[in-house]
Amino acid sequence: MHIRQTTAEDRPEIEQLLDTAFGPDRHLRTAYRLREGSAPIDALCFVARREDGECNGHLCATIEFWPIEIACRSTGARLPALLLGPIAVAEDCRGKGLGGDLIRLGLVEAQALGHTLVLLVGDPEYYSRFGFSNTATANWGMPGPVEQRRLMVRASDPSLTLPVEADVQAPLRAAAE
Ligand SMILES: CC(C)(COP(=O)(O)OP(=O)(O)OC[C@H]1O[C@@H](n2cnc3c(N)ncnc32)[C@H](O)[C@@H]1OP(=O)(O)O)[C@@H](O)C(=O)NCCC(=O)NCCS
Repeated sequence: MHIRQTTAEDRPEIEQLLDTAFGPDRHLRTAYRLREGSAPIDALCFVARREDGECNGHLCATIEFWPIEIACRSTGARLPALLLGPIAVAEDCRGKGLGGDLIRLGLVEAQALGHTLVLLVGDPEYYSRFGFSNTATANWGMPGPVEQRRLMVRASDPSLTLPVEADVQAPLRAAAE
């Protein structure tokens, strides 16, 4: 398996993989509202392809990280953070550690770029193994409906104090552009 940074040529296959994994109405999900007017961070977008040329180099997996902000309700302070996702592994490539490899790679690279706070909407049964927790997000709001237990955050800097009550939002700068 070959994992590398995503290029523009990968985009059609990525969209197809995401449609298959999440359904063609995936853009209606709340997480997509956080991406409106924004763009994923190129250095943190990866794809995995087969090395052997099987299936014409069939796209096996994709992961992206998008910039977001966590707005503290009491102080108005806005903490920069990343939204992990979408991530999808093609059905015939699942259960081989690829999803985990992409998540760990993304988190290491994100930290190298100075990002210490990563949020996602996903199953705690899967994401807790990567250090994500839904404890701190109990009173965090999203720009649409989301099951609270699926709103998870990971802070790699233990000195970071997370707000008790906050709203997860698209970056202000992106909204202004
Ligand atoms: C979730 C996903 C990315 C995992 O990719 P993967 O390459 O299969 O994951 P890994 O091989 O690293 O891990 C597999 C393990 O995770 C478990 N797992 C996978 N998805 C899970 C889930 N939603 N809840 C709980 N456990 C899950 C598997 O049962 C397996 O467990 P095991 O190690 O005990 O056998 C992949 O299943 C996928 O693309 N699913 C559809 C899209 C999706 O749900 N994306 C995430 C939502 S944000």
